[in-house]
Amino acid sequence: MDSIDFDPADTPAWSRLSALAASHGNDSISDYFRDDPERPERYSLRVGELYLDYSKNRVSDAIFSALMDLAEQSPLSSRREALFAGDIVNPSESRPALHTALRHPQGAKPEIRDAIRAEQEKLRFYSEGVRDGSWRGATGKAFTDVVHIGIGGSELGPRLACQALREFRTPGITLHFLANVDGAEVNTLLARLNPETSLVIVASKTFTTRETRLNTDTVMSWLARGLDRDDPQATSHVLGVTAGAPEALAFGIPEKQILGFWDWVGGRYSLWSAVGLPVAIAIGYEPFSQMLSGAAHMDAHFRTAPHEHNMPVILALLGLWYSNFLGAPSHCVVPYCERLGLLPAYLQQLDMESNGKAVTLDEHVTGYRTGPIVWGQTGTSAQHAFFQLLHQGTHLVPVDMIAAVRDNLSSRRHHRVLLGNMLAQAAVLMAGNNSAELPAHRRYPGNRPSNTLLLDTLSPANLGALLALYEHKVFTQASLWNINPFDQWGVELGKKLAAQLMDDGEQSLAGLDPSTRDLLDHLEL
Ligand code: F6P
Repeated sequence: MDSIDFDPADTPAWSRLSALAASHGNDSISDYFRDDPERPERYSLRVGELYLDYSKNRVSDAIFSALMDLAEQSPLSSRREALFAGDIVNPSESRPALHTALRHPQGAKPEIRDAIRAEQEKLRFYSEGVRDGSWRGATGKAFTDVVHIGIGGSELGPRLACQALREFRTPGITLHFLANVDGAEVNTLLARLNPETSLVIVASKTFTTRETRLNTDTVMSWLARGLDRDDPQATSHVLGVTAGAPEALAFGIPEKQILGFWDWVGGRYSLWSAVGLPVAIAIGYEPFSQMLSGAAHMDAHFRTAPHEHNMPVILALLGLWYSNFLGAPSHCVVPYCERLGLLPAYLQQLDMESNGKAVTLDEHVTGYRTGPIVWGQTGTSAQHAFFQLLHQGTHLVPVDMIAAVRDNLSSRRHHRVLLGNMLAQAAVLMAGNNSAELPAHRRYPGNRPSNTLLLDTLSPANLGALLALYEHKVFTQASLWNINPFDQWGVELGKKLAAQLMDDGEQSLAGLDPSTRDLLDHLEL
């Protein structure tokens, strides 16, 4: 990686953007359209089967060009090359971040390429075996249910993809996801499953995450009883997915049933590795590969397209404009597709665990805002929940609206209403209605920005491209803010204290604050 000594606020582009924000930050988006009939064409972009309309932003040509200057004056280009080249881009853990190689192994160094291909063959073997019944349970029965245990990046990606790609799922195998350590969920799920026909996937990069280990223990006890075996983890019912093979082996999973990945795959970037096993079981290995190819297509676009025609770079700069110059603390994601209902949660981890940081790569506290608070829900439901605030509240909230142009699972009638609502909301957020004839409480200030992102269809390839688009948006913003998007030290302290509270009993009370001690008295731990 190039020099880590960079402060975006010292660039000429940043100063120019500050001046533009002061003089033109409240200019009317509607006026931009009035003054430029070609704005919809100029402020839109197609990459494969994804179409982005970013014309409804508080961005004039001068602002757009200053944002592009910022990208040029930042280390983005060299950091992007470092990312794809497999250089150490995660210095606090001394690691590369090579999730892009999982989608395009042929472009990676030979040893990485061969390692990826070997694990992909295992992924193919087990996903096909479970699907065609050749990999079956200890009592000879084919698997009808798959219980995937994992949390954070070891759950959000595969769960989102299984839900989003429901159209492509083969009937006969039901997927279940156990992430939270909430025993009520675990017990309720297990009560309705048959151990003889249940396959358990334990997905954990480290294989040490406490929530996953406890859930796994409970599921193993259930399997042991159901199969009348004292070593259920050694049976065909259990597959491990991990970068910590020694821990999985020590737990008793046979080596051949451990699908590996590597420390250079970040947890929240691991859907593309063997962590995607439930997706391959649900839709088949070939469609799973299409998801990887769709992501690879977005990778190639991100790597080669000039910044002003580069979808992730454009989204990143727009986000930065609102966050750093117009004071927007959050970013809202509203998929107009129920099957993308988990996308906001997935993007919360991707964005907030990556860019929720206040220290730069060169160990300085940033003097500017970094990653936004990401939130959202599917439309139209969101309209009946929080759109009131988007339209008339006191916060400026940029919104990404996402939809599939064609939906084979819906009907023309429903799809028309769904997408009509999306168009109407984006239009009204921008245009508002400030008529003086209306009482103040019925006025809409308008001038509220949104992007509209259209997928031709919600196919495996397009889902892959969509998720890679957001990955690269996050990476671009991290490069502009000079932060490391690939570590997550902020989650460690809480984990440590929870472990102490559970393991050390009375001893751990010594250093506790009075509020926590008092709460402990109210609980039965
Ligand atoms: O919350 C921290 C974190 O390390 C995430 O980054 C990760 O996705 C999750 O925990 C689960 O970790 P593991 O896959 O090692 O169980």
